[in-house]
Amino acid sequence: MGCDNTKKTALGSMKRRLLLSFLCVLSLSLFSGWSPAFQALMTANPSAFSDSGRNVTVLLWYWPFSRSMSLKGDVCWDLYRIPRCNLVDQRSLFPSADVVVFHNRELVERRQKLPLDRPRPRGQRWAWMSLEAPAYNGNLHRFTDVFNMTITYRRDADVPVPYGSLLPKEAEGRLVEDDPQNKTSLVCWVVSNYRSHHKRSRVFKELNATVPVKVYGRWTKTPLTSAALLPTISRCYFYLAFENSVAKDYITEKLWRNAYQGGAVPVVLGASASDYKAVAPPHSFIHVDEFASVKEMGKYLQELAEDKKRYAEYFTWKQQWKVKVYTDWRERLCKICSQFSSLPQHKVYSDLEAWFSAKNPSA
Ligand SMILES: *[C@@H]1O[C@H](CO)[C@@H](O)[C@H](O)[C@H]1NC(C)=O
Ligand SMILES: *[C@@H]1O[C@H](CO)[C@@H](O)[C@H](O)[C@H]1NC(C)=O
Ligand SMILES: *[C@@H]1O[C@H](CO)[C@@H](O)[C@H](O)[C@H]1NC(C)=O
Ligand SMILES: *[C@@H]1O[C@H](CO)[C@@H](O)[C@H](O)[C@H]1NC(C)=O
Repeated sequence: MGCDNTKKTALGSMKRRLLLSFLCVLSLSLFSGWSPAFQALMTANPSAFSDSGRNVTVLLWYWPFSRSMSLKGDVCWDLYRIPRCNLVDQRSLFPSADVVVFHNRELVERRQKLPLDRPRPRGQRWAWMSLEAPAYNGNLHRFTDVFNMTITYRRDADVPVPYGSLLPKEAEGRLVEDDPQNKTSLVCWVVSNYRSHHKRSRVFKELNATVPVKVYGRWTKTPLTSAALLPTISRCYFYLAFENSVAKDYITEKLWRNAYQGGAVPVVLGASASDYKAVAPPHSFIHVDEFASVKEMGKYLQELAEDKKRYAEYFTWKQQWKVKVYTDWRERLCKICSQFSSLPQHKVYSDLEAWFSAKNPSA
């Protein structure tokens, strides 16, 4: 890009040097192409808000899906280096809890109840937690004026808990790993729960009419074991990371784990392209909505697979970033403590359903 020219002009006039470096910075920031939202996300450091040194007690009222995990020792510190976070699951600690967490699934299935009969200690916050898209959360209308905070994958949740995120690579990891491309299929899709009314099913049908799509999963009676999933995806140029719900910020492990860790370029459908751009590196995925037609997208995929150089450009992000996939509820719960001091003093979700199902929530 010619930024090295600054060296040659080192003896030149000050003005010229300033102008050159300005141009270099400008062009670097233009060409690196990171969207401002993405940059803001990467620089937001939750521990920067670390507060007074007060212990925060987070009480999990019951374990999601009845799968409990050990909370022995100082879990948040030992596992995640989050200090002063007392994560507990004994209900007897209710009176001293700063936050009490309720996982949505058990509430909507009425297998668990809110402790509405107990007086809520002053200042205690009740948190609603879910990783499901709105269509799979049941009716939230009955939770009026109950919760003070939300813990979900939405970027605007009080405690955002995405399915995955990017971490900057350590300097020594910056060497370009030249993935040996050993691809045998153009496009792959793994689908268990096929529903013809899903948008993704219609797009698949149209795409499969244009280019060959190899389908795995229960629907086509070709299920993959979890050990076979990533090696199978790695044989594909493109992986259809199609979500079952079209909802704001709803981007699951299909992107973070299956596609990125599997080493195929994700073709995404679900949240808007701008939602994806805010969390994933540009030029790392292909969004269905960015084509005038599915047929056109099919042609694009075919051309890309035939052009090694252009195809490889979809992996340059890996020089700078690595993917982190979140799977442990304890990590999500410990994150409450990192966010605790930046929570508003007073907040009540008077209409949780409206907040969660809103298409374009106001910022
Ligand atoms: C704060 O919490 C930590 C972790 O649970 C615990 O080990 C420590 O004794 C607590 N400190 C105070 C002052 O309560
Ligand atoms: C490429 O894939 C084929 C099977 O599709 C396999 O036999 C071969 O060992 C692979 N080569 C490399 C370099 O991974
Ligand atoms: C995809 O298209 C091929 C070729 O037309 C067809 O044989 C195959 O059954 C289709 N796959 C599915 C899952 O519909
Ligand atoms: C939490 O919500 C309850 C119920 O609406 C409310 O009375 C309480 O003031 C709220 N607390 C905070 C800290 O926002």
